[in-house]
Amino acid sequence: MDLNIKEMQEKDRQYLWHAMSPYQEEVPSMIVTSGEGSWITDISGNRYLDGMSGLWCVNAGYGREELAKAAYDQLTVMPYYPLTQSHLPAIQLAEKINEWLEGDYVIFFSNSGSDANETAFKIARQYYNQTERPNRSKFISRYRAYHGNSMGALAATGQAQRKYKYEPLGSGFLHVRPPDGYRRPEGMTLEQFNVQCARDIEEMILWEGKETIAGVIMEPVITGGGMIVPHQIYFDEVQRICREHQVLLIIDEVICGFGRSGRKFGHMNYNVKPDIVTMAKGLTSGYLPLSATAVRREIFEAFKDRQPYSHFRHVNTFGGSPAPCALALKNLEILEREGLIERSRILGERLYDGMKDLLDHPLVGDIRSFGFLMGIELVKDKTTKEPLPLPVVTRIIAECKARHLIIGKNGDTVAGYNNVLTISPPLVTTDEDLEFIVLTLKAVINQIRG
Ligand SMILES: Cc1ncc(COP(=O)(O)O)c(C=O)c1O
Repeated sequence: MDLNIKEMQEKDRQYLWHAMSPYQEEVPSMIVTSGEGSWITDISGNRYLDGMSGLWCVNAGYGREELAKAAYDQLTVMPYYPLTQSHLPAIQLAEKINEWLEGDYVIFFSNSGSDANETAFKIARQYYNQTERPNRSKFISRYRAYHGNSMGALAATGQAQRKYKYEPLGSGFLHVRPPDGYRRPEGMTLEQFNVQCARDIEEMILWEGKETIAGVIMEPVITGGGMIVPHQIYFDEVQRICREHQVLLIIDEVICGFGRSGRKFGHMNYNVKPDIVTMAKGLTSGYLPLSATAVRREIFEAFKDRQPYSHFRHVNTFGGSPAPCALALKNLEILEREGLIERSRILGERLYDGMKDLLDHPLVGDIRSFGFLMGIELVKDKTTKEPLPLPVVTRIIAECKARHLIIGKNGDTVAGYNNVLTISPPLVTTDEDLEFIVLTLKAVINQIRG
């Protein structure tokens, strides 16, 4: 490629405002130019195994012409029409998502995970309003969880560092502690602690007045907030509590969905029957923006009466555009056809098997995995569990990159606790790629030992 690399880096620095990254005059951004399978190539020709699938989303891997073609073909026939009316790709995709959910859901399309969650909150509030429980307006979520960047989704987020300087946000969002088994109080079993964390939700419902609570929102496992994986008993309790107090259970599948967890959706690992499911990222494997809010039919029924304000007065111009829907359909076909959901489970197990002896490393406090997702919690001291300081965590990530492996961490979440390395590679990762991930990560972490 005949590109002046320095010039592009300079223009990047001059014109582009980058997400999440502190401004750095000296260190140029990595400018990526192509991708194939689990690997990406930058403007200088360096190849990296993308152990984060971009932002946890390129489930089907890079370089899929089939996906590009599905979007292209649709764009040439019918590029755009809003879902105030309808089009074939949206109808077909809604049916397919419903099949994947193994339930009876009605699908509302949007553009991003944040949008999908905002939509869920508005639907929940309006649902209760229209079923004679108008005071049910509040939502409960967990500290450390991320649910999006907009004023409602960020309010639901339990990460103080993402909110700082942007408040006040949407009102009516409450938080409880997450089921972080690694940091449970001494003397408590994992099961006891998980029950306790679920009961925190019940206590909050009762203290707030149960007739004021609309919903509980949670991911199957807290992903970007530090890979916090609950025990089965947690979800058993959460479901009981939601049912008993008529609180809607909203499951955020933005990261855990579409095979990432080793099942079609993360909540299926816990036998959860959500009232609302939100999804994005892996729906299109990140190739085009698309998200969805799947709502149990009974909730949808409450929007059918013909009073002036009874319908859902919510629209976004691009949500459920024909090309992303056509691409998403093809993406789901690929995930099924190539057995990538099962492959995700197998890869996740092998990754854990490959990494688990690092538990003996003095700086590795815990290793948690869920499907093909992993979190490695780094600590300065295994007895006190004091988190490893950020500069050392960052050094590990930089050293992995120097060896052509991209991994992530929970960044800007809760002060002092950005100490969990995250790994979420494409589901097309080969056996050879997996070996490369394991060997590289181990070599780098072992080097930090002394
Ligand atoms: C669990 C979860 N929910 C919601 C979102 C928001 O999605 P988006 O960035 O597409 O708005 C994210 C983004 O990372 C997420 O991880």
